[in-house]
Amino acid sequence: MKKISIVGAGNTGATAAHWLAERELADVVLLDVVEGMPQGKSLDMLEAMPIIGKDTHILGTNNFEDTKDSDIVIITAGIARKPGMSREDLLKTNAEIVGNAATEALKYSPNAFFIVLTNPLDTMSYLTMKKTGLPRERIIGQAGVLDSARMRAFVAMETGVSVENVQCYVLGGHGDEMVPLTRHSNIAGIPLRDYLPADKLEAIVNRTRKGGGEIVGLLKTGSAFYAPSLACVQMAEAILKDKKLIIPCAVYMDGEYGLKDIFFGVPVVLGAGGMEKIVEYKFDDEEKAMFEKSAESVRSSHEALKSVVKL
Ligand code: 2OP
Repeated sequence: MKKISIVGAGNTGATAAHWLAERELADVVLLDVVEGMPQGKSLDMLEAMPIIGKDTHILGTNNFEDTKDSDIVIITAGIARKPGMSREDLLKTNAEIVGNAATEALKYSPNAFFIVLTNPLDTMSYLTMKKTGLPRERIIGQAGVLDSARMRAFVAMETGVSVENVQCYVLGGHGDEMVPLTRHSNIAGIPLRDYLPADKLEAIVNRTRKGGGEIVGLLKTGSAFYAPSLACVQMAEAILKDKKLIIPCAVYMDGEYGLKDIFFGVPVVLGAGGMEKIVEYKFDDEEKAMFEKSAESVRSSHEALKSVVKL
């Protein structure tokens, strides 16, 4: 059995463990600094396995040694947004938590792939790469799957068609400047722009951009966790099964799309080699401008990181 360790046993971490366990995709280690909490949640999930007939082993721990020889490490640890906070407001606190999680996990799993979920997402992925010194293929940030899934859900709600028929692609940084590509999104192959009136499409684009904030506003004490954690699981599955799945993920840009030295959401091929390839769309001028604006805001977040952490 493959092994996936999840650092952070809060809502996103524990829910990722839940989705993984249900799929019998890998044995799961759920780690947190809080004593008893990861152990309790893991034992509870383990006791659910007989009911669904899955032999997933789930271990809760406070000790990084238990993550030894993981194939994949998912980092969810950190504080979440409260109403009125941007993802950037989390930067300093989460940089300390994620930096420590990444270096500790790497000690015990030198061959692991890292999937990063902690916000501000693009910058925490950047930090993970700089702290671990790993090649870019092995550090992948989750954002595009979630943002695209939100847009797909909104389109399905608006049109009444199955979510399976709706394909949407949201790229760029995981912030309000993200880039929903309406020209490349479609319903059963029909471009969204032909299927929906412009005002409806614009409303969906705006709701997608603020999708994370909408959930924070409703929950009040935390942020979304069902969809973000499932997005991580889809990424982990693509790597473990060598699926060559093309999905938008935050990866280190080395000249692609004209971007360098930032983590940014672009379509990538995920397989046994982790991030195997960046897929480049041909953009029109409007899309290029949106991409550049989003990159600018990610760049300034990376700069803010460099002012609080030595990389
Ligand atoms: C979201 O978009 C928390 O960033 C996460 O819901």
